[in-house]
Amino acid sequence: MLPDDLSAALDQAVARFSPQELSDAVTRITERYRVAGVSTGGNHLRSRADITAYAAYRMPATYAAASTAMRQAAMLTPGFEPRSHLDAGGGTGAAIWAAAGIWPSIERITVVEHDAHIIDLGRRLARGGAAPLRGTTWRQASIGAGLDRPAADLVTMSYALGELPGPDRPGVVKWLAEEAAMVIIIEPGTPAGHATVAAARDVLAAQGRTIVAPCPHDGACPIQEGRDWCHFSVRLPRTSLHRRIKAGTLSFEDEKFSYVAATTGPWPRPASRVLRHPQKRKGVVSLRLCTEGDGLRDVIVSKRQGGLYRQARDVDWGDAWPPPSIESPD
Ligand SMILES: C[S@@+](CC[C@H](N)C(=O)[O-])C[C@H]1O[C@@H](n2cnc3c(N)ncnc32)[C@H](O)[C@@H]1O
Repeated sequence: MLPDDLSAALDQAVARFSPQELSDAVTRITERYRVAGVSTGGNHLRSRADITAYAAYRMPATYAAASTAMRQAAMLTPGFEPRSHLDAGGGTGAAIWAAAGIWPSIERITVVEHDAHIIDLGRRLARGGAAPLRGTTWRQASIGAGLDRPAADLVTMSYALGELPGPDRPGVVKWLAEEAAMVIIIEPGTPAGHATVAAARDVLAAQGRTIVAPCPHDGACPIQEGRDWCHFSVRLPRTSLHRRIKAGTLSFEDEKFSYVAATTGPWPRPASRVLRHPQKRKGVVSLRLCTEGDGLRDVIVSKRQGGLYRQARDVDWGDAWPPPSIESPD
């Protein structure tokens, strides 16, 4: 769920346009993405109505994905209390709102975004938030390996790395990681999004970073490209506005996302992570796991395993496994 203050600020922004203007904008943007793909530097948003419509229907989802990825990273790094946050390709600020909710220690925020109109909306939304959000420095600049930037404890890039030309991405990932204690990159949960994240993960691992989430190891990704892709899912409620401007009547949507979180220091990692929805049948739970030393494994936990079975019934797609107090899923 979006924080109330962000939701209220978004409602206010949306009220400047008629529902028809917004749904026309959504149709236009969807068509541009369909025809040209994502790697276009965000130039599908060409008017204020486009930007507002995009924020109204995509920000709740990218906020939910960023929050979920950040929560997993934060759970594995207790004591990491970032003071400064840099968000690259920040758009209207979904990731800065998410990070502020996960790490109340954040005092200084910088967003780098190349579109002045997008910055304008992001700044207006952030004015409705708490002090660090209100004081965000919005820097209008094009992300590139040579761009100067403030040092930051936490650096994020959410749904934006894949918009850069492929050859630029490794340099940008190194640029993101400069002097950062933690880097989190989030992309859509599609095969292309996973490929972008996997390539970024390779760059981070080659730099000696510890991959804290979602992978339980720094080694090669066991998922074979073309056969599957590593992604997770978060369910979010659709606001009535959302339902009005986006076709479909469901009261919720599932946002699929891929991510990687890497740190400078070593942190204890879980033995494995749950990929896919656990299959829960009478007396057994089947888990597809990415493991620390044994690649992908399918594990069955049965009722006979008592406490472990009860934990397996509660575990969700994307969670670490086994839960901290239990030694081994076997
Ligand atoms: C899909 S939006 C994601 C926005 C936000 N991070 C989120 O998660 O909702 C991608 C953003 O990256 C910005 N962007 C794309 N290429 C960029 C570049 N080279 N430099 C700066 N911003 C860029 C776009 O203008 C757009 O606002």
